[in-house]
Amino acid sequence: MRVSARKPYNHRRHARRPLGLLRTPVASLTALWRYYRAFYTSSKSALWILATVEYALSYYSYKLIRTHVTHFKMCVLLFLTVEQKKRIAVIAGDGIGREVIPEAVNVIKASGAAVELTDFDWGAERYLGDGVTVPPDGFAMLGRDFDAILVGAFGDPRVPSNIHAKEILLGMRFKMDLYANVRPVRLLDASLCPLKGIEPKDLDFVVIRENTEGVYVDAGGVFKQGTPDEIAVQEDINSRKGVERIIRYAFEYCERHKKQDGSPRKRVLMCDKSNAMSYAGGLWQRVFKEVGREYPQIAAEHMYVDALCTQMVRDPRQFDVIVTNNMFGDIITDLAAGLQGGLGMAASGNIHPGKTSMFEPVHGSAPPIAGKDVANPLGAILTAAMMLGHVGLAREAEKIEGAVIEAVRQKKITQDIGGSLGTREAGEWVARRVSQSGPS
Ligand code: NAD
Ligand code: IPM
Ligand code: MN
Repeated sequence: MRVSARKPYNHRRHARRPLGLLRTPVASLTALWRYYRAFYTSSKSALWILATVEYALSYYSYKLIRTHVTHFKMCVLLFLTVEQKKRIAVIAGDGIGREVIPEAVNVIKASGAAVELTDFDWGAERYLGDGVTVPPDGFAMLGRDFDAILVGAFGDPRVPSNIHAKEILLGMRFKMDLYANVRPVRLLDASLCPLKGIEPKDLDFVVIRENTEGVYVDAGGVFKQGTPDEIAVQEDINSRKGVERIIRYAFEYCERHKKQDGSPRKRVLMCDKSNAMSYAGGLWQRVFKEVGREYPQIAAEHMYVDALCTQMVRDPRQFDVIVTNNMFGDIITDLAAGLQGGLGMAASGNIHPGKTSMFEPVHGSAPPIAGKDVANPLGAILTAAMMLGHVGLAREAEKIEGAVIEAVRQKKITQDIGGSLGTREAGEWVARRVSQSGPS
């Protein structure tokens, strides 16, 4: 009979050597920590696999079942309590995007938000240098490795075709399927609104803009180009699925979001031009009625886009949630930005629930004022707050919004909204205020 050469496991020996008992769990915890780091901070699957194997080996080398259980519980606890940093991709882009985004980033840092920021140089400068707009795998990488993306603006007179802006900005919206462009319209202080007698409580609505279809899909062409008979066709694409999901998003938004004063949102208004564009408008009308029936507690209203423009200027108090197509959404949110104090004040998010979403101020690269330290950074800073709220950092977002409101009240602002500070000074003031407002 063969006798096994292996020594029987000696429980008592372990009990006599408490340090020996500790060794394996400690090794295992270290391995788990590495596993966690690899998983959350690196996209390199080799690292991830190594860390997993190391953890498994250290776990199975220890043989006391009861300790296993305790040990496992400790690991789960550690895993749950360790702060999970949100990974943010930052693409400042062109023009004033390169001035306002660094200010927004400083404010995020001042808020103490648990984030890991990674800069990308996508934009006109990079495109002019190496011809690359979006590196291969760029959108997949953003979706895989980041929780959110903070963007400045794209547009540079040296790239008259605007091809890089199309490929980067519209690329993110379309290829990452960020179908809901959420543009809050809020007045932070009465002094900012060009309309008489409008207070912050009077201007608090949101535009939900369809972000992946409409005339933006680039379907069309030109015929007999350069001749007097030239024809240009730009198709307006409206899919049943696309229209339905944005309308449903608007009703859901209405149900789940309160106004700044804490009162509930109650109305969704669909804005179209169905009196002239009957095919697309007809689809929007039918879907709006159908989806609206699922939300009987929310009033479903309608307005033609031209009439809405007048109403927005005559009495913006009447709006709550507006849902509309890609192009109307673009136009009415520039108008709405005027009510908030100008383009420098407006924030936006390009969202697909559950996917990596992208946040950008409503304004563009503003070439005439770029490089002069005059651009208003508050729109970008409010956008950063919106992004932090979206990734679950609500307290930091609130701190930032509070500091922006204070900056406006104390006139620590740029010229476009009646102040005298430069971009950097205004950004630094907000960052200081945020860091003084204590730990989050
Ligand atoms: P724009 O929003 O860039 O600027 C229009 C004007 O508004 C500016 O000249 C400036 O006077 C004022 N303005 C805008 N933002 C401001 C700020 N933060 N502070 C102070 N003043 C501000 O619009 P535009 O001039 O039509 O477009 C310029 C370029 O930007 C174009 O190439 C356009 O395609 C692009 N664009 C990009 C985005 C984007 O990337 N998200 C958005 C809009 C426009
Ligand atoms: C915006 C911009 C973009 C748009 C341009 C730059 C394509 O105006 O984000 O509002 O029309 O969507
Ligand atoms: Mn626009």
